[in-house]
Amino acid sequence: MRHVIEPTDLTLEEQSELIAEASLIMRNPSRYAEVCRGKILASLFYEPSTRTRLSFESAMISLGGSVIGFASGDVSSAAKGESIADTIRVAGCYADICAIRHPKEGSALVASQFSTIPVINAGDGGHEHPTQTYTDILTINAVKGRLENMTVGLCGDLKFGRTVHSLIKTLSLHPGNKFLLASPEELAIPDYIKWILRDRGCEFEETRDLEGAIGKMDILYMTRVQKERFFNEEDYVRLKDSYILDMAKLEGAKPDLAILHPLPRVNEISVEVDKDPRAVYFYQAMCGKFVRMALIKKLLDL
Ligand code: NCD
Repeated sequence: MRHVIEPTDLTLEEQSELIAEASLIMRNPSRYAEVCRGKILASLFYEPSTRTRLSFESAMISLGGSVIGFASGDVSSAAKGESIADTIRVAGCYADICAIRHPKEGSALVASQFSTIPVINAGDGGHEHPTQTYTDILTINAVKGRLENMTVGLCGDLKFGRTVHSLIKTLSLHPGNKFLLASPEELAIPDYIKWILRDRGCEFEETRDLEGAIGKMDILYMTRVQKERFFNEEDYVRLKDSYILDMAKLEGAKPDLAILHPLPRVNEISVEVDKDPRAVYFYQAMCGKFVRMALIKKLLDL
């Protein structure tokens, strides 16, 4: 039985098979409509979600399976004090596979240690979000035709942004990628991610200045300041609008830049950018469903 707790739980070869299969599904979804007939996904969301939960559920339904679960910890027995270990054991009695999102880092790993069914981490606190990364690489591969030899800018909350951590961990395994990391000082990338980059011999640069760096980027991955991970409102208010990408800031950018964002967007990309052909974040959200269809199919060995 396989779990996906961090993106590298699938080898690079498996990741590339996954995005190949997701691309096939995207082109011809009706061919996959019966693949999971009779199978059940438990969708255990202890934290708010729109895209991740809906795309997981839509993915399972589109594979012919069914979905059970909850969209908030308040309506599960967690509110009565039940541990994740107990909840996941029980989920295994009712479902064949589970996607779990939880505010605590490490929660999905704990779940996998007690689970009788494959566990997919749908976001554990400020730590990791592997299926967002698979979505991101499917998107990047579709728009750039490659996953290597790129200058990848990541901007915003690089400290708490789990999507950033997972994406860097994966893209740094592909040759020739360089990283430009734009954030306020307080929201800089954690040291452990820098160690990984150094270990893999990847070039990276930290900067406060998005405009100064944007001209070098092939990819710009914008992120929201993660309000729910802050200890006080004051710091959030001070930092939340550190970066707002607008058409003026895009002036010096490459004509074939791809602008991604895991969404939800708050203020960090001005809506005028949505019309620019370089903005691919809504296409990216669509990719999320197909990559999750491919992942569910793979983990259920179907
Ligand atoms: C992200 C998350 O939950 O980490 N959203 C998502 O899954 N698409 C990003 C975010 O919430 O900022």
